[in-house]
Amino acid sequence: MIKADESRSLNGHPPRLAAKQIKITIPLQHNIIIVGAGLAGLYAALKLAPTPVTVLTTKTLGRSASSLWAQGGIAAAIGEGDTAKAHAEDTIKAGKGLVNEEIAELVTKEATDRIHDLLAFGVPFDKDLKGRLELSKEAAHSTNRIVRVSGDQAGAAIMAALIEAVKKTPSITVIENISVHKLSTKNDQVNGVYVWPAAEQTVGQGQLLTANAVVLATGGSGALYSKTTNPSSARGEGLAMAAEAGALIADPEFIQFHPTAIDAGLDPAPLATEALRGEAAHLIDNTGHRIMETIHPDMEMAPRDIVARTVFRNVTSGKGAFLDCRMIPAERMKTHYKTVMENCRKAGLNPITTPIPVAPAAHFHMGGIVTDQWGRSSLKGLWACGEVAATGLHGANRLASNSLLEAIVFADRIAKDLTKIDSYLQKPSQQEDTNIQTITLHETSHKRSDVETESSDQAIKQLRETMFTYVGLERSEDGLRLALDKLNELEPYFKNQQRNQNMLLTAKFILVGALMRQQSVGSHFRIDDEQSPAPPPLRSFTTLCELESNLTNLQSAGSANKVNDTVTSQTEVPAG
Ligand code: SIN
Repeated sequence: MIKADESRSLNGHPPRLAAKQIKITIPLQHNIIIVGAGLAGLYAALKLAPTPVTVLTTKTLGRSASSLWAQGGIAAAIGEGDTAKAHAEDTIKAGKGLVNEEIAELVTKEATDRIHDLLAFGVPFDKDLKGRLELSKEAAHSTNRIVRVSGDQAGAAIMAALIEAVKKTPSITVIENISVHKLSTKNDQVNGVYVWPAAEQTVGQGQLLTANAVVLATGGSGALYSKTTNPSSARGEGLAMAAEAGALIADPEFIQFHPTAIDAGLDPAPLATEALRGEAAHLIDNTGHRIMETIHPDMEMAPRDIVARTVFRNVTSGKGAFLDCRMIPAERMKTHYKTVMENCRKAGLNPITTPIPVAPAAHFHMGGIVTDQWGRSSLKGLWACGEVAATGLHGANRLASNSLLEAIVFADRIAKDLTKIDSYLQKPSQQEDTNIQTITLHETSHKRSDVETESSDQAIKQLRETMFTYVGLERSEDGLRLALDKLNELEPYFKNQQRNQNMLLTAKFILVGALMRQQSVGSHFRIDDEQSPAPPPLRSFTTLCELESNLTNLQSAGSANKVNDTVTSQTEVPAG
């Protein structure tokens, strides 16, 4: 484990404001670099053993990933009478015509093997008295098929088991407190990453670390929204870095909002897991009326986008939305929903006696870096897995608990793909021989003043609020155009700040994707959708060049013209 030496900051001030340089002993050449130490990154590293890999993480191991916070669990057709086919069908149905069916079949078929891998890594999945895995139900699944740990603690427990396994695996080098904000390319191939100390502002040039292969496992984009269930590290940087390097991006407009974030003014907003609704918790308004009653026959178990929009409308209209868990026995709440209970306690709430106030929050990015069935991006040398990837599994609306499954299936496939290729089969001793030296990661004459720091923090706040207000659960062309003007105004505040420019770029991918898609589908809801009957939806594929040309057209056309008259079409290809 290598840690950036923060002790060199001046006068004990936080390094962001005062450090001139941070030194770190680190090899400059690597075999495989995995960016991100969430479930996808660590699982890929473990499955690659004994092939040497370097995992880069912005915090200490196990501190920054969204996976840690997952409450629901992993969907797998592992129960009696359930089949991978039925799981694939539920996935396809939820995705609203935009799921790649081959991918859905492949992922659901491999689910059981991956759950057995996790058991072998020591994950203590919940079991019944006969020793069989206990399975719970979540929305839009036709049967109980979610494997969980101690009720709502799947993410933390899975990550704890994997971190233990990583620490015991000599082929894995973890470098902590280090950030990647840019990929390096040579002859159209990704050949490394640029790194900065995580505590520093990302002004100046990063340090190049070269690699035979780079795997992006950087997570999603939820933190681009002012209301999110994701950690602040989930700011969509992987998508931006890959796009900057020339990779193909898919479906950036599809952001899933979780219907039941606890509405207690916290940022990020803690989750009240969907499993509670699976156990019969009701969604009610401030008169006690069940808000899903007239909306969908499956009520609280309706597809996530429908529940999220209903909750949103209730909250914005002042009728309120509350998750009433009082029908779940108090003892069960205490033993199976410890995370929810603790989150409520921190917010001064007691779900055993009082319904939990809830509101939707950005939760999962269905779009991302286009990858094939082996997790390969469109760029040589670059693979991606976990939320940053767009494998085609989720379509316009992800089925609950399919995200951790997708992460491990594709992390495993990437490991298999990389070990098939001879040049990646370096022995650990070879990696140790590479050019290890002390390097200066960051040395800049541009020390940011408090005022500069504050203004870029304010700009980030505005970006996040703009995204939630105009690029959130309900979208319209006028709102999206207004949001684009607002994002453009923020540009000067992010000058020379690679990290914040990445955030802005991903926000623009989402926004322009939403402008281009004029028809509502799944999580993308246009209140100005007038297309009836609707043509069958298509997945959207785009690049940085297309984004830039669309932005130029939008700017030169001004806000008077309609988007379809002025913007060149993003490439759309049919699902599957
Ligand atoms: C939840 O526990 O409600 C989240 C599960 C998921 O997003 O898949």
